[in-house]
Amino acid sequence: MKINENYLKLEQSYLFTNIGRKVSAYQAEHPDKKIIRLGIGDVTLPLCPAVIDAMHAAVTEMGKAETFRGYGPEQGYDFLRNAVRDYYAQRGVQLKSEEIFISDGAKSDIGNILDLFSADNTVLIPDPVYPVYVDTNIMAGRKILYMDANEKNGFLPLPDPAVKADIIYLCSPNNPTGAVYNRQQLKAWVDYALDCGAVLLFDAAYECFIHDPALPRSIFEIEGARRCAIEFCSFSKTAGFTGTRCGYTVVPEELEFEGASLNKFWLRRQTTKFNGVPYIVQRGAAAVFTPEGQEQIHKNIEYYMENARAIAGAMRNLGIWFTGGENSPYIWLKCPGGRSSWEYFDYLLEEKNIVGTPGAGFGKNGEGFFRLTAFGSREATLEAIERLSK
Ligand code: MLT
Repeated sequence: MKINENYLKLEQSYLFTNIGRKVSAYQAEHPDKKIIRLGIGDVTLPLCPAVIDAMHAAVTEMGKAETFRGYGPEQGYDFLRNAVRDYYAQRGVQLKSEEIFISDGAKSDIGNILDLFSADNTVLIPDPVYPVYVDTNIMAGRKILYMDANEKNGFLPLPDPAVKADIIYLCSPNNPTGAVYNRQQLKAWVDYALDCGAVLLFDAAYECFIHDPALPRSIFEIEGARRCAIEFCSFSKTAGFTGTRCGYTVVPEELEFEGASLNKFWLRRQTTKFNGVPYIVQRGAAAVFTPEGQEQIHKNIEYYMENARAIAGAMRNLGIWFTGGENSPYIWLKCPGGRSSWEYFDYLLEEKNIVGTPGAGFGKNGEGFFRLTAFGSREATLEAIERLSK
């Protein structure tokens, strides 16, 4: 038996696992310290009443022979696929339900989609970015090219015609920097992908935090994207599903490479390797799109954005350079005093008992930067600000 040696090329543990371990060790040594966690982007507000009511009703259905459900369609129930389709339609994006695949979250789909592509493909990934793009391609042994995101380009790299790639990743609003591409910039990426004959993997997990109506929330708002792009989205940050698990991936029917339909490939992959999201969870997710659900989740999103504004205000008062926090729940700051990301992590953990995420964990260009999340409770966020300001 031979192992997949690519695993030996990975960092020893996943970024957030590593941070979790460090924080647990510190807490075990200092049980009296009250640690504020603004590290992993995990939500703190409970599921909204519309979701809970729908899930309760679904539980009741599952307890009666007449309404009990066993295996569901692997790609999701029509009621949820149609609700997602209609959500896109509100923004002028026309999708077919068959192009929407319900899953247990964007992270799984972002990793699993790679089943569809040859290991010989070259991948282009922004740096810094969500570590799952890099790690999953290392696991598959693909060649990775990086595009620099930095202060000079506002953490929004644009295509370099001299570089050729087969698979391109974009995340907007960006995790970790909070930077958001405008229409013109995304058009440049779509044109480049079409020119290269590449597939564009667009992570829209943070789309609901875009307040500026001029900014695109889906790659499919851009002309030509249906011929080159796949979009991943999630209920995690939108509706507090980090623990409940539900997301969706859009694979347009026009997406064809070497005469093969990626929509059909993905359906084949999902029906073979996945048994679908629990009915109860899908009912909860569908409730997010009802008028009550929308009103309730927007209240929660506004709560987090108020936290973001408070952290951003504190950064301004302290004279710390930062981006994000406007159309994104992340604040991306330059470590004060020229510290490295991990030095600043240790300093904040030990001196202020605040957990953040070291920028270096998102790529080499993240060195010297640090990410704080707005997903904490108001009380914890304000306390963190007070500790930082002292
Ligand atoms: C993050 O903190 O970057 C995210 O919460 C991770 C994720 O969504 O998997």
